[in-house]
Amino acid sequence: MSEIVLRPINKADHAEDALDLAQRAADYVILEVGHAPDAAFINDFFDAVPPGLTTADLMTFGVMQEQAMTGIVCIAEGYELPTDWWIGLVLLDPAYRGSGIGRTVLHLIKTKARRARMTMLKLAVLEANPRAMHFWTREGFVPHRYAPATPQSDGHNRWVLKYQL
Ligand SMILES: CC(C)(COP(=O)(O)OP(=O)(O)OC[C@H]1O[C@@H](n2cnc3c(N)ncnc32)[C@H](O)[C@@H]1OP(=O)(O)O)[C@@H](O)C(=O)NCCC(=O)NCCS
Repeated sequence: MSEIVLRPINKADHAEDALDLAQRAADYVILEVGHAPDAAFINDFFDAVPPGLTTADLMTFGVMQEQAMTGIVCIAEGYELPTDWWIGLVLLDPAYRGSGIGRTVLHLIKTKARRARMTMLKLAVLEANPRAMHFWTREGFVPHRYAPATPQSDGHNRWVLKYQL
């Protein structure tokens, strides 16, 4: 496998590339939001912030294998605690799944997080996504809390997982 890198991306320059990736990975987008990826999904990818944070706390990356964008990643710094990195999304093109890129991406995230003096990675996985649950727990994430759907939410039950750096 040629080298995988996380390249910083932004909405102004990379919204089209991110939408193209999300369209290739529409299986997951449909599972999460109930419809094919659109501009609103991409806006949220670049701009949606967890409570108490601003867009300045967000980092967005393309997962690059040479010139091919094989995935997208977003991370928020400081949610739920100042030294937490909250992984908002890791989304790979299905053509590139199951061959170790996810593990490599996680390794790159851990290296960046440690350099930024973070102590914990956290993320929420949909209960309806057992393959992702399998991936994260295989990689050492453990349950942090259960976040059931509420009348105000999107209808998904989630597990919040954590990984001590
Ligand atoms: C979850 C994901 C990031 C893992 O990356 P990956 O490169 O496929 O994972 P790796 O090749 O490093 O590891 C493969 C493991 O992940 C699991 N996996 C999870 N979803 C998978 C998928 N859609 N296709 C293939 N393997 C998947 C496999 O069960 C496999 O475990 P095993 O080797 O013990 O059988 C990637 O599959 C993906 O983008 N899935 C769709 C989006 C998603 O669910 N994102 C996570 C949201 S919390």
